[in-house]
Amino acid sequence: MAKNYVIARNLDLYYRKIMNICCIGAGYVGGPTMAMIASKCPDIQVAVVDINQERINAWNSANLPIYEPGLDEIVSEARGKNLFFSTEVDRYILESEIIFISVNTPTKEYGSGLGQAADLRYVESCARRIAEISKSPKIIVEKSTVPVRTAQMVKTILASTSHQFQHQIVSNPEFLAEGTAVKDLLSPDRVLIGGDLTPEGQIAVGKVSSIYENWIKKDRIITTNLWSSELSKLTANAFLAQRISSINAISALCEETEANVDEVAQAIGADSRIGPKFLKSSIGFGGSCFQKDILNLCYLCRYFRLPEVAEYWEQVIRMNEYQKERFVRRILDSMFNTVSGKRIAILGYAFKKDTNDARESPAIGICKRLLEEKAHLAIYDPKVSRQTILNSLGIKEDQANSIDFCKSATEACQDSHCIAILTEWDEFKNIDYEDIYKNMVKPAILFDGRNLLDIEMIRLIGFVAKGIGIS
Ligand code: UDX
Ligand code: UDX
Repeated sequence: MAKNYVIARNLDLYYRKIMNICCIGAGYVGGPTMAMIASKCPDIQVAVVDINQERINAWNSANLPIYEPGLDEIVSEARGKNLFFSTEVDRYILESEIIFISVNTPTKEYGSGLGQAADLRYVESCARRIAEISKSPKIIVEKSTVPVRTAQMVKTILASTSHQFQHQIVSNPEFLAEGTAVKDLLSPDRVLIGGDLTPEGQIAVGKVSSIYENWIKKDRIITTNLWSSELSKLTANAFLAQRISSINAISALCEETEANVDEVAQAIGADSRIGPKFLKSSIGFGGSCFQKDILNLCYLCRYFRLPEVAEYWEQVIRMNEYQKERFVRRILDSMFNTVSGKRIAILGYAFKKDTNDARESPAIGICKRLLEEKAHLAIYDPKVSRQTILNSLGIKEDQANSIDFCKSATEACQDSHCIAILTEWDEFKNIDYEDIYKNMVKPAILFDGRNLLDIEMIRLIGFVAKGIGIS
């Protein structure tokens, strides 16, 4: 009898329209994901809440806190109708049936697991808050990237509060890449939803799935158990980063052997078993995810006493560091081993094109090294702010004597000894390099850290030009 009641109640919950959902964390993931849900599901009221008032103000203004092609349009269409940005975290926890947690999970900077483990304190505090104040059962969705078994921690917290609601935990990692967030959210390769294999767990998975089914075909929605879903996100990022480190390792060999890394990438990528994506050799991968998630994966492996597995993945990061250092060394070598007092134009600072994000950007390490060598940097990035650059370099405004912040690539290159392209912004392809060449100190040197330009054409102009994996 009691069992039938539970099933009937759950079915009722399942078929009732989801009306209110919220997302804690209005960051690069939470903001765009919720904007897409609001835009595709007019029947759902979506609230994005954050403790950072400034960020929420920006989401409510004409100047969104993050730059993503196409994002302005979907936010301005839905905002105020069924999409709300607010700092009223408790209010929206109370009102929502489904709560996404999309707070940051940085690498730990203290104590046990320092420099490797994911810092889960924000996820934990969200779980505690939900447990403390909820007056109805919730579906809690882990959107943040978390180590496998995090849901166990969330469950324990929820179970240890005085309220006896049967909250459900669902893992629904986000695979969007920055710069293409809107496109990725609109037509993802897959949506992954993991839940408990109990009837209640499966109902929760079904409910989260029903949101996405508003615009994504069901055969693109993969459902798994909780732990597979959590682990798949770390694994996907580790595999993607591994491909970049693999091709970057080969780039070093290309430079010694007159092979061309882009040609090698094309040749191997044509093999359908390998595939062409994520084989672009570069100054190394950046962004908030790859390094953090691999470090986290390695930490987990060591925790579970699998040191060989940890060492295998650590090598992906080591290769990435090597690639950045190698780039700086090549600049130094071609500038007679000294850049002291020389003006170096830095074109691009974001970790990739079409974003204003510079977290873990390879540009940070490269610029730091060049500053150590006493170079004078002239930095231009179309979207990354001066403040973000200074913060990432750990330099105060009044100590930035060795850096010019430029308003265009042309201004940065004027009177420079060397140009270093660090982000593959499209606009760098269309600069008049002949004109730039005339206004540079000779020999004019150009390092294309993204193999963006036709290096032969650049050499014909007169530049001493080098790419990655091209001798
Ligand atoms: C996301 C994921 O959450 C992370 O796990 C993944 O690895 C990368 O992408 P992202 O959206 O990029 O993180 O993080 P960020 O832009 O830092 O946004 C997180 C937001 O959460 C911030 O605005 C922060 O103010 C907010 N926050 C944090 C809260 O609202 N409450 C907290 O307790 C902690
Ligand atoms: C990544 C994953 O792609 C995404 O699925 C996950 O949700 C978050 O982490 P993101 O970091 O936003 O996304 O960007 P991505 O396009 O993966 O690029 C990461 C870094 O790798 C960038 O610095 C990029 O320039 C570099 N990269 C990428 C290469 O150097 N070569 C390539 O072929 C591809």
